This record gives sequence, structure tokens and C-alpha cells, in this order.
Amino acid sequence: MKKILLVDASPRVNGNSESIVNMLAEDLKDQEVVVYKMRETTNNFCLACGACQGKDSQSCVQKDDYTNLLPVIDECDSIVIATPIYNQQICSMAKLFIERWYPFFKFDAPLMSNTSKPGKKGALVCSFWGSPVDVTEKYAEWTVSGFSQMGCDNTKAVAEYISEKTGAAGFLQNITAEI
Ligand SMILES: Cc1cc2nc3c(=O)[nH]c(=O)nc-3n(C[C@H](O)[C@H](O)[C@H](O)COP(=O)(O)O)c2cc1C
Repeated sequence: MKKILLVDASPRVNGNSESIVNMLAEDLKDQEVVVYKMRETTNNFCLACGACQGKDSQSCVQKDDYTNLLPVIDECDSIVIATPIYNQQICSMAKLFIERWYPFFKFDAPLMSNTSKPGKKGALVCSFWGSPVDVTEKYAEWTVSGFSQMGCDNTKAVAEYISEKTGAAGFLQNITAEI
């Protein structure tokens, strides 16, 4: 059984990111799934204090929900972040989630990551309304390539226009099979 972390990074309740996470959780119900909702948890900004650096294990001086999540990020086999596109970029809660995994950064380690479980799979699922699909896809691919820092050697970007017709279901083709 794989341990899969699904992150809902949208501030919107019942939004597209939440639908995507719910559908993934349903599709993956045979696996151990942890759902983490940014809007329902306390997640401070990275302080850039550097206290987490130079260590073999991940630690953070902050005492919030994100610090408690670090062991889950370390142990999981796959991580999926669902985010809306805001102003042509991932939303700030998704960015905050990514910046707070600085405790995993280890310059001289494979993948520059000190995770105890390398070889993770990572996916970034972006929903948006009107930005150009090709540019947004390239942006999402570049962004998800940075998931290597917490041990992903296999990443996938899904950036799709969400329409009334397809709804969130349009995003899920090929994702569950790949993570
Ligand atoms: C502040 C804000 C900025 C947005 N900027 C963009 C944008 O630049 N391009 C775009 O295509 N959609 C943009 N959108 C639309 C959202 O990306 C889209 O509705 C998304 O599916 C919402 O996801 P959610 O329901 O998970 O929050 C924006 C929405 C908001 C609220």
C-alpha cells in the first residue's frame, strides 16, 4: 500500500481544487491517503532562519500544523498539490506549502534532498479559467520539477482549463494511474 499526500491549496471551499482532491481520494481509496487542506490548517511563512539546514532529519523551529506534517511528507510515496492559478501563477498557499519544505534541502545529497524515502512521485494539478494552456502547462512543469527537493524523481504537471462541461473530472485522466 502506498502512502499518498493530497494537498488542497485553494482558499475556496467546494472549489475545483477540493473537487480534484476528493475525486483523487476516492480513486485512491485502496491506498493510505492523507488529505491536507491549507485553508483549514495553520501554515506560517518560512522564516528563512536557516535553523533547519545542515541536518540529516527535517525539523522546523516553527510550531504549526506544517511542522507536524513534515514526517508525513518524508514518509509518503507520492505527493499531489491541487492549486488554482492566480495571476498566472500557483496561488500563494501552494507557494507557501512548497517553500516550507526547505528542511528537506540538502545540497550534497542525491536530488538535493534529505528525505528518508527518495523516489517519490509528485504531481501539480493546476486549474484555471482563461490563461493560455500551453504557457501554463510549461510553467506547471517547471514548478513541479522543483518537487525534487523533497525527494521526487518523477514529476507530472497537469494544467488544464476547467470548463463547465468537464468540471474537475477533466483533470483526472492518467493521474491516479501514475501516482
Ligand atoms: C485572485 C484570482 C486570480 C485568478 N487569476 C487567474 C489567472 O491568472 N488565470 C486564469 O486562467 N484564471 C485565474 N483565476 C481563476 C481560477 O484559477 C479558477 O477559477 C480556478 O479553477 C479556481 O480554483 P479553486 O476553485 O480550486 O479555487 C483567478 C481567480 C482568482 C480568485
